[in-house]
Amino acid sequence: MTFAPVSRDEIIEAFRVRNPEHLARLRARANQVRAERVGEMVHLRGLIEISNHCCRNCLYCGVRAERREIVRYRMTIDEILSAAAKAVEYGYGTVVLQAGEDAGISDEQIAEIVAAIKERYTLAVTLSLGERPDSVFQRWCQAGADRYLLRVETTNPRLFGAIHPHTPGSGFPKTTDRAAMLRRLRSMGYEIGSGVMIGLPGQTAEDLADDLAFFQELDLDMIGTGPYLPHPRTPLGIVAELYARGGRPGSRIWEEMVQQTGFTYPVSEETVPATNIMGLTMIALTRLTCPEANIPSTTAIATLDGRYGRISGLQSGANVIMPNLTPMRYRPLYEIYPNKAAKNEEARETHEIALRQIAEANRIPGVGPGGRVRR
Ligand code: 5AD
Repeated sequence: MTFAPVSRDEIIEAFRVRNPEHLARLRARANQVRAERVGEMVHLRGLIEISNHCCRNCLYCGVRAERREIVRYRMTIDEILSAAAKAVEYGYGTVVLQAGEDAGISDEQIAEIVAAIKERYTLAVTLSLGERPDSVFQRWCQAGADRYLLRVETTNPRLFGAIHPHTPGSGFPKTTDRAAMLRRLRSMGYEIGSGVMIGLPGQTAEDLADDLAFFQELDLDMIGTGPYLPHPRTPLGIVAELYARGGRPGSRIWEEMVQQTGFTYPVSEETVPATNIMGLTMIALTRLTCPEANIPSTTAIATLDGRYGRISGLQSGANVIMPNLTPMRYRPLYEIYPNKAAKNEEARETHEIALRQIAEANRIPGVGPGGRVRR
């Protein structure tokens, strides 16, 4: 059976309608396409948050550089290898090494970590370490890295500029074309992944339709999306809270807030809500737009709905779960947003919960590296 591709009008309607019956139909359709194109396996990627240091100041993120009050950590190579050993023990095919843009771990150290994992274990290695020069990406690829995740966060250039300020003195160019960076990563041999947040202040249904068109255009191998979760100790968190309490552009308090936070993007009533319903809608539309991609049921979804979030994602087109293998003592410190799912769990517990969720969704745990299929 073949499925009619989803049109731009349908996409925009889905983000505007927001009613349960509409969502149920969309999810059922996406679930069917998922079954046909990538099957019943749910691939498990062991997530290791290797450092929460970051030189950037993204307005939404809880580990932004300006949060000087938070405790920063950096895992040692031995700690990273023990976490990777757990991934092997639990039968996962992939580990994901994620961190802020941390200048304190050298490019060569990362290469050594990747090489050590590849030498000891049969694991695919995915890196999620932010923007880097091509020469560094090449070095890591040579060391054995298989995949690279770099979310574009939003394809709306003005909104991206508003949430991701330039870092003076960092050596980064003023703006980076992440789409071009992803294309270069692919040409080096990486599988490439990207994604966006849903419900950023001012983000509209049209913006999300553009994001989906971008996923398709790049023919992404991995696509991670999730609702934007306001962190109260960040500039964007302050904006989002004020908006949620009815604050609107033009009011005195709004203008004061713009002054205080520097978030100057024009927020309108068209803002898509950052809800689980919108998160599941995005997963379903992503599956319909990019039927072969590996799509995770993300932590952001699990955070908003602890009991059913993960499972709902799996039933809306997702075919990947990323259980967190970061050692217990570091987990609460990687607080990109508050109340992050699995904040206080041992790796084993996180693993067992993931297996139960897979069973509850009537699916089977993946075997092998679980790379992108091409049919
Ligand atoms: N809410 C939701 N997602 C967030 N991320 C970072 N901060 C937040 C937040 N406050 C997402 C970004 C980033 C990924 C690691 O986590 O999309 O790329």
